[in-house]
Amino acid sequence: MTPPTPYYLIDERKLLGNLETIDHLRRRSGAKCVLALKCFAAWVVFPLMRRFMDGSTSSSLYEVRLGREKFGKEVHAFSVAWKRDEVRALRPLADKIIFNSLSQLDALEREARGLSIGLRVNPGVSFSHFDLADPARRHSRLGVRGRRALFAAAPRLDGVMFHYNCENDDFVHFRDTLDRIARDYAPLLEQLDWVSLGGGFHFTRPGYPVDAFADTLRRFADRFGVQVYLEPGEAAVTGAAELVTTVLDVVHNETDIAIVDASTEAHMLDLLIYRQSARIEAAGRGRCVVTIAGRSCLAGDVFGAYRFPRKLRPGDTVRFADAAGYTLVKKNWFNGLPMPAIVVRRLNGALRTVRRFGYADYLRSLS
Ligand SMILES: Cc1ncc(COP(=O)(O)O)c(C=O)c1O
Repeated sequence: MTPPTPYYLIDERKLLGNLETIDHLRRRSGAKCVLALKCFAAWVVFPLMRRFMDGSTSSSLYEVRLGREKFGKEVHAFSVAWKRDEVRALRPLADKIIFNSLSQLDALEREARGLSIGLRVNPGVSFSHFDLADPARRHSRLGVRGRRALFAAAPRLDGVMFHYNCENDDFVHFRDTLDRIARDYAPLLEQLDWVSLGGGFHFTRPGYPVDAFADTLRRFADRFGVQVYLEPGEAAVTGAAELVTTVLDVVHNETDIAIVDASTEAHMLDLLIYRQSARIEAAGRGRCVVTIAGRSCLAGDVFGAYRFPRKLRPGDTVRFADAAGYTLVKKNWFNGLPMPAIVVRRLNGALRTVRRFGYADYLRSLS
């Protein structure tokens, strides 16, 4: 039984396809893969994910805690800027801490005693379709740029993290930039135990040369004698969830506009941030063109324009694909709209509603 729409539907069988690719990569490359919780933190499916991944990585103390409590295995703690009491609090929870700057390393290194210490490096190269998400953009605050001070800090470090890719499905670009990193940072890399190459690799996409990717990672690890980590978010969960909605009304203003019982701004925020359309698998080349829009007050609350074989009518179901990564973690209470429930399709096909949200949750989110 499914609840009334809207709801997010996480499909474990689809998730499993990505996880099996991750597992193959781990075995062939020797790299460890930790889930980036910033991308996906729906912990109901962590028992499945943990069988194929090595732990989690985080952007805050709460994600560190979630990783320890719900994912287990290794916990990496990164933040763009830590507070002292947060470092104290995460010490019993995390295995590694990764500072974003030399000044944070100086200020908090002692507080982090007992943890494996890492530093984020900004290699000045990146792959991103969006300036907003480009860690090497001009004036980026993400990671240490200057190499001289970085190399001087090497004896205080166990590892470094380079996160410089975003939706990178271009293997040749990855290989070339890794060669450049190996060349530019060799004196540092030779002194470390581990190197994280961050997330942003789309290696679970059909057609990606996973074996060549794995062999490149293994060569890098062997050359420097380091444990390589990847921090997949999107690659781990791509295609694994939908946002299921119902058409409430169809209005006409030069084109048909179907209004569904959800909203881009509240329930698929990245569409607005990156100015993209939602993907609907059932849409294609039909005769009828319809714009699908959300029911918030925002004039531009539009999921996209699609073709269907027939006109949409109130009561029709619309399923938006790609609702796993950066979607559930960003949902919000804009307009006081009903929050989509969370439903899981288990590996055996059974559907389970694992969370419903109501007025009390809305009330508690403010004061
Ligand atoms: C430091 C770090 N690691 C991992 C990730 C996960 O990236 P993705 O979901 O694109 O794989 C991100 C995303 O921004 C990140 O900033």
